[in-house]
Amino acid sequence: MDLLEAIRTRSSVRAFRDEPVPRRLLEQVLLDATRAPSAINMQPWDVHMVLGDERKRLSRRLLRSFKERAVTCGPGASRPIPDRFMARARYCADAMTPLVERMGSDFKTYINEGSLNFYGAPAVALIFLDECFPAERMVDVGSLVAYLVLSAEGHGVNSCPIGLVQQYEDEIKDQLNVPESKKLIISVALGFAEPDSPVNEFRSPRADLNEVTRWVD
Ligand SMILES: Cc1cc2nc3c(=O)[nH]c(=O)nc-3n(C[C@H](O)[C@H](O)[C@H](O)COP(=O)(O)O)c2cc1C
Repeated sequence: MDLLEAIRTRSSVRAFRDEPVPRRLLEQVLLDATRAPSAINMQPWDVHMVLGDERKRLSRRLLRSFKERAVTCGPGASRPIPDRFMARARYCADAMTPLVERMGSDFKTYINEGSLNFYGAPAVALIFLDECFPAERMVDVGSLVAYLVLSAEGHGVNSCPIGLVQQYEDEIKDQLNVPESKKLIISVALGFAEPDSPVNEFRSPRADLNEVTRWVD
């Protein structure tokens, strides 16, 4: 697939088929993703790729914890976020609601429990950053995630970045034996989209360029 086509057609998938992605394909996706730029090429990320039954076991633990703590998806900000940003988030929720209702669920349950279940994906990449790195290195992790979802798309593998896992970092590190010094930044669910699932019909819009760009010349 052409790079620009991947950029223009990729979208997050929120219902995956229960079909494994061949290991060699995942390795190729990761190899391409790690071509991402990083400050002085430190490549500060650590990726834990969790597959199959291990992925399901992890999700069972996260869902148990969700039932007890009920920490949910949200903008995660300590200060109010200007309305134009919140309006974009509300648009997604409003547009996805009838789709998940057609699947017999409600939006909040579907997104929160679905995120912790990685939407049924057979593989999840959990991306960590060692605490020795300053916050600026999050930019590097962001590049890796962008490359990861695009390389996946190019290899015919669908994806969904899932940030909610950050709220369940302790459980994840305990389950996977990840050293205390590694901070969980984000995860990316990887697999093949359930083609007939209503939620996968959703396409997120983008703000007009004039809203997000100021030209200075
Ligand atoms: C940092 C980050 C965290 C995200 N966390 C979640 C999540 O926890 N659950 C989820 O369903 N989608 C999550 N997403 C996916 C976004 O909702 C999605 O990228 C956005 O709505 C744009 O849609 P698109 O990816 O289809 O273009 C996350 C994306 C990013 C970049």
